[in-house]
Amino acid sequence: MTPVKVGLLGLGTVGGGTATVLKRNAEEIARRAGRGIVIDYVSTSKSELPEGLGLSGSRITRDPFDVVNDPDIEIVVELYGGDEPAKSLVLQAIENGKHVVTANKALIAVHGNEIFEKAREKGVIVAFEAAVAGGIPIIKSLREGLSANKINWLAGIINGTGNFILSEMRDKGRDFEDVLAEAQALGYAESDPTFDVEGIDAGHKLTILSSIAFGIPLQFEKTYMEGISDISSEDVGYADELGYGIKHLGIARRTERGIEQRVHPTLIPKDRLIANVNGVMNAVLVKGDAVGPTMYYGAGAGGEPTASAVVADIIDIARVLTSDPENRVPHLAFQPDSLSDHPVLAMDAVDTAFYLRLSARDEAGVLANITRILGDDNISIEAFIQKETSKTNGKADIILLTKVVNEGDMNQAIAKIEALDVVTGKVTRIRVENLG
Ligand code: HSE
Repeated sequence: MTPVKVGLLGLGTVGGGTATVLKRNAEEIARRAGRGIVIDYVSTSKSELPEGLGLSGSRITRDPFDVVNDPDIEIVVELYGGDEPAKSLVLQAIENGKHVVTANKALIAVHGNEIFEKAREKGVIVAFEAAVAGGIPIIKSLREGLSANKINWLAGIINGTGNFILSEMRDKGRDFEDVLAEAQALGYAESDPTFDVEGIDAGHKLTILSSIAFGIPLQFEKTYMEGISDISSEDVGYADELGYGIKHLGIARRTERGIEQRVHPTLIPKDRLIANVNGVMNAVLVKGDAVGPTMYYGAGAGGEPTASAVVADIIDIARVLTSDPENRVPHLAFQPDSLSDHPVLAMDAVDTAFYLRLSARDEAGVLANITRILGDDNISIEAFIQKETSKTNGKADIILLTKVVNEGDMNQAIAKIEALDVVTGKVTRIRVENLG
């Protein structure tokens, strides 16, 4: 059988990794796919293709539309990332009847509904395993391995750069900017690193996981996102004293009122497996009603780990090239006409526990005032620490852990606490999840 011809858009960290893996494992891959797989055409800004990647027989162009419009190409692998020209290229490839593999989480999270609709009309596959959690086959696990289950919730560390920064700051006391620069040099960070630091990259990935877990359309605009830039070493220390680690989590949970879809720093009990996932590693914990909790762990970024997911998608497509489109695994796991309209909840409708830290004058009655405000808003306290701080003369840090409360009630209580004249500055709040 003739080899499957792939067109590669982009030869950066992941593109290079994809060529390397296809070359190194060519024989095993052909045994799995039933056909050889060759990169026939590459779009790159480089003037010539680097040696050692097995691309000596490949054609090269600077214009990616040459690749998507080439009649010989059966599968287009889009590794540009971002919105345009990626969106136009993918839509043009679909229009031309080509299958698409992409690692582009922003594209799928924001434009996936439109892209899948078009792919369905044209009877082609758009595969995107590499878009979430790098090398971890989490899309395949959720879409196929767990398809017997009603998924109750999932929680994941799904941004490698953010986890790398938090781990290095905590373990080595390194500076935020310094670790971010290293993550960029290693090819982990997005081209705009604020996407990693402000939770947007994790928001894209969570949006995709939530749709596949619950069978709802992609709704990135309803995903709540907070990043890691406000986490201080004090909070890391106090959380540790209370028995918790701080991780940046994406959480999607089905409730009767709607679906929680949120990304934010989270206190997790230190003895949970996921609290011990460090560096660029990602992990996703999924709770299914039949299987119970399951966890998926691996490298969340980097050339070859992400290429592992890209190449697996290419192999999957090569295996089903001749199958009837109606009998393929649906893009969002559920049949397109069976997606649910269960709403995604606004953040102030979510219930969760909180860690609060505030600085107040160290005098009689302060604590009573604070606990009265919390009590008036039905917020019950789970644990409490008060620390005199050497740097703030006559002031104390007050740290509270609450029981599960409504986010809207908590917002009101925090506004009232911040209005007290004995309280200085803003109240720091970090959500707490037991993930039991
Ligand atoms: N910037 C992303 C991360 C790359 O750090 O997780 C993988 O999607």
